[in-house]
Amino acid sequence: MPFSRVLVTGGCGFIGAGFIRMLLRERPDTSVINLDKLTYAGNPANLADLDAASAARHTFVRGDIADARQVRELLREFPCDAVLNFAAESHVDRSIVDAAPFVQTNVLGVQVLLDAARQSGVRRYVQISTDEVYGALGVEGRFTEQTPLAPNSPYSASKASADMLVRAAHMTFDFDTIITRCSNNYGPHQFPEKLIPFMIRRALADETLPVYGDGLQIRDWIHVEDHCRGILLALEQGRPGGVYNFGGDAEMTNIALVRLLLERLDKPESLIRHVQDRPGHDRRYAMDYSLAAGELGYVPQKSFAEGLAATISWYLEHQAWVDDVVSGEYRRFTQKWYAGRE
Ligand code: NAD
Ligand code: DAU
Repeated sequence: MPFSRVLVTGGCGFIGAGFIRMLLRERPDTSVINLDKLTYAGNPANLADLDAASAARHTFVRGDIADARQVRELLREFPCDAVLNFAAESHVDRSIVDAAPFVQTNVLGVQVLLDAARQSGVRRYVQISTDEVYGALGVEGRFTEQTPLAPNSPYSASKASADMLVRAAHMTFDFDTIITRCSNNYGPHQFPEKLIPFMIRRALADETLPVYGDGLQIRDWIHVEDHCRGILLALEQGRPGGVYNFGGDAEMTNIALVRLLLERLDKPESLIRHVQDRPGHDRRYAMDYSLAAGELGYVPQKSFAEGLAATISWYLEHQAWVDDVVSGEYRRFTQKWYAGRE
């Protein structure tokens, strides 16, 4: 069933912008309302490359998903048939320093959206969640949708709380909801607090690269376009109440990834510093996405080698974009966080 108008929240962030670009390009009869608070991580320039036909179907509204009155009025002014919630505080390290904005946006904001969406007649609500709600794996196995939720950071606890609220909206009100859980994304426009763009930026400036602990933690990397493809499939073909894992089949230790980045950037390994570990650091994530493969036909398309090479090129060609997004607030956070770890 096609969707004529959808509300995308957090559409000026890394993944939300990627999703809006894909949706507008591939669904010419769909228009998008993009509600974004423009926190330090939100950047309208992430959508500056929309072609004219896509831009004509994109409406940006600055606002907060936790502001019930604003969300209700928005859905009254622009009735939508689907809501996709990408808006979140998304950085684990920040949640360790101050969990309050995580609870406000990632928990309260989700309940506000669910209520407003249901009460305004939205047909389907999609919550963009994360593999981190499952906690950490040992050396064996992968997370499935049946793995019990066991979040270890304030960030992942807030995302797991949101998942519970979404489930409750489905069970209590028979509201048509979907939850997608994905592993670590990478690609263009990712805010340079996250591992890959952070290390690229530091290496290019010949600054030290702070690797937490022994660097043997494992992440399962997925290109942002593969994640967005999975979300589009879930929106259009998912089961009401469905939960779907997405992964990239690209497990790698942090230290191996940092070494690879240095090699590609032609920088020396002597820049690496092993610093104090992240408290509660999850050792390993890996996703079993066989449910999404079977029900939605989801398969990640981009190999990590190809995707990483393109991502490094993008950052080399867009250093002005990086300089623009690293605001004073970002600099203050990184100085405080990393100064305490060396
Ligand atoms: P991001 O930090 O790049 O972007 C978040 C966006 O949300 C920003 O544009 C920000 O301005 C906006 N926002 C924050 N609070 C808001 C509020 N109260 N109201 C409206 N807008 C608000 O994050 P991202 O990496 O693009 O992640 C998007 C979503 O995907 C998040 O829900 C995150 O939990 C989830 N996710 C991310 C990853 C990953 O690897 N980055 C993996 C799995 C799931
Ligand atoms: O798994 C999905 C999650 O991936 C998303 O839900 C989160 O929004 C997203 O931020 C990401 O969380 P991580 O904590 O895995 O990503 P981050 O890029 O912060 O760190 C990746 C790994 O690299 C992690 O093991 C911590 C390590 N790290 C990170 C930084 C910033 C370092 O060793 N040094 C660093 O300076």
